[in-house]
Amino acid sequence: MEIIQLPEDMQRRAGECRRARRSIGLVPTMGALHEGHLSLIRRCRAENDVVIMSLFVNPAQFNRTDDLERYPRDLEGDSRMAREAGVDVIFAPTAEGMYPDGYVTYVNVARITERWEGAARPGHFRGVATVCTKLFTICRPHRAYFGQKDYQQSLVVRRLAADLNLGLEIVVSPTVREPDGLALSSRNVLLSPEERRQATVLSRALFQAQAAVRGGERDAGRVRAAIEAEIRSAQLAAVDYVGVCDPDTLEPLVRVTGKAVAVVAASFGTTRLIDNAILDPQPE
Ligand code: PAJ
Repeated sequence: MEIIQLPEDMQRRAGECRRARRSIGLVPTMGALHEGHLSLIRRCRAENDVVIMSLFVNPAQFNRTDDLERYPRDLEGDSRMAREAGVDVIFAPTAEGMYPDGYVTYVNVARITERWEGAARPGHFRGVATVCTKLFTICRPHRAYFGQKDYQQSLVVRRLAADLNLGLEIVVSPTVREPDGLALSSRNVLLSPEERRQATVLSRALFQAQAAVRGGERDAGRVRAAIEAEIRSAQLAAVDYVGVCDPDTLEPLVRVTGKAVAVVAASFGTTRLIDNAILDPQPE
């Protein structure tokens, strides 16, 4: 396994792979790897000749400096896990390498970035869209892999790739969860034992909503209110938002007539978690 730091070296390496007609898969990450990341890497390994994992805690997408500073980092552990999961190249640039002095170019995806995470974290999706565009032009992947865990992000990246004719396929993979339902997240290690215990309320609320819709509930407002009430039942949970929305536009729904997505964000102490679930009135 190779570790490449300079964008120009990575771009040259990707060019060599392309000329050799080898398909390139990219898994963008911010490190602190867990089974969610590894599931993307394994899928990427199975579907491509060359697997690149980028590892970059992107300052441009953090709207709070304390969140950026607190973000867990473990290059050694990450390298070992990445190698074992079949990564060929880790692209781990520095912030100066990605955003050198004089950097002024940003990518702005409109509409689908306005609600939910976009509203709660101003500038967040501008940072995500910008870094993903850069990662795509540097690593030149045929396919890039994202998790459903960050549902809105996956829509933003899909939109961006289509709108800018980036010529790559965006693959979105299911959320990996702990046995008790909590979605894996690099931020979970920041929870105290009691916060960690109560954080299961997010997935529980979402699963209850899935069951309600399967059972015939069609009133989106009632589904939303039930999710919110369930989350509020956890003493340490501070609800940020709960939405029941169109799975493509993320606009709030009045009725659940086809597939919908429920999105939630809540803080437990100083740690903010997000989760989501597809609500399907007619599951296969
Ligand atoms: P990060 O939070 O490290 O996540 C990297 C990828 O792993 C994302 O596509 C995310 O959706 C996916 N992922 C995280 N938790 C998951 C889980 N429990 N199950 C399945 N997939 C999961 O998301 C980012 O980094 C950044 O915004 C990035 C795209 C790298 C741009 O900086």
